[in-house]
Amino acid sequence: MSKIQWDSQLYLRYERERTQPSIDLASRIDLDSPAVIIDLGCGPGNSTRVLRERWPAAHITGLDSSTAMIEKARQTSDAIDWRIGDIQTWYEPNRFASHKFLEVYNARMSNFDFTEIAGRYERDSLVQKAAAEVLISMLEIGPQEDVLDLGCGTGHLTERLSEITAGRVVGIDPAPGMIAQARSKYCSERISFEVAAAENLRPNAEFDVIFCNSVLHWFRDPARALAACKRALRPAGRIGLQAPARQDYCPNFLKGIAKVACHPETAATFSRFRSPWFLCETGDEYAEFCRDAGFIVPFARIEETSARYSPEQVLKVFESGAAAGYLNATCYGVPMPNGYVESFRRILADAFRAQADGDGQVELVFHRIYLVAVRPD
Ligand SMILES: C[S@@+](CC[C@H](N)C(=O)[O-])C[C@H]1O[C@@H](n2cnc3c(N)ncnc32)[C@H](O)[C@@H]1O
Repeated sequence: MSKIQWDSQLYLRYERERTQPSIDLASRIDLDSPAVIIDLGCGPGNSTRVLRERWPAAHITGLDSSTAMIEKARQTSDAIDWRIGDIQTWYEPNRFASHKFLEVYNARMSNFDFTEIAGRYERDSLVQKAAAEVLISMLEIGPQEDVLDLGCGTGHLTERLSEITAGRVVGIDPAPGMIAQARSKYCSERISFEVAAAENLRPNAEFDVIFCNSVLHWFRDPARALAACKRALRPAGRIGLQAPARQDYCPNFLKGIAKVACHPETAATFSRFRSPWFLCETGDEYAEFCRDAGFIVPFARIEETSARYSPEQVLKVFESGAAAGYLNATCYGVPMPNGYVESFRRILADAFRAQADGDGQVELVFHRIYLVAVRPD
């Protein structure tokens, strides 16, 4: 079948008539301030501009498979993200990872509060602990260096860092519950803890090393956080970042979430879920992001790691991180109905059990970025 060639001039001859239904339709969408909108099959962009006018703060994409249509659309507005693409193959599992989007989204969201999971975090954070050891060895921390543990959680890794250096060790985290746990267990003459988010770091040229394990994807404003990290480091100081990476950061979780997304008990509510995570697809993208903040990046690589766990342990791993997003009402923009969280957990637990092989174990795969960035002298 030959492809239809759309003539944008001919199309626009009846612009007013063609645009009226878009105006009518947009006026029936009962949303005050959606953060992200995509106009699928946007043509020369008249419907997209209706959306632009109606929701000035949103990040808006116009997508169409016709190059001629998108070229025409581009001439009319640079406040819209115009894209050539086919609706049939259009798929953005984490359509909120773009930096542009994060600016809009984060303006409305406060930091995630991990207080709720603080009590069980140290026990359940199996994958974070394993990854932390790799990051520690990459950073080659010297015996007198001052170290900041950024997003320190319950402080067990802060304590681990204090075994490596005799310098000052500070743990910072925005979750008051995490810091309360950390203080009660690990506070000492050399280790201190403070409630703060990376974006609001106050230290100025005070640390030789920033250790940031499994936190980067949670930053509400990654660019601002990195700028603050650069300020907190002494010249030639370095930051080590380790975090889940890529849209398919954990294929096992995503397979389980796909079940939640189509289960009759959860599908309607889950369709409102908006991923809060900052995820890039390649080591180069992460490196570029750090270079934009003024760092030199000697190492940035996404690794695939895998380990065998029981389905129950996989659920604990989920609860120690991803759950703080998937089960967080602010990621839905609507209240979660009674019973939703329980159904979500039950469907996910069943899905993890179904992933077990003959030994009753699940091969749990993660994609993780390991990156070291250096503040120039
Ligand atoms: C998965 S836990 C990692 C804790 C610890 N670093 C570890 O590896 O075990 C993520 C932590 O990041 C913290 N966090 C979230 N947003 C943050 C931000 N904007 N700045 C600093 N920490 C943040 C959370 O409060 C939470 O304690």
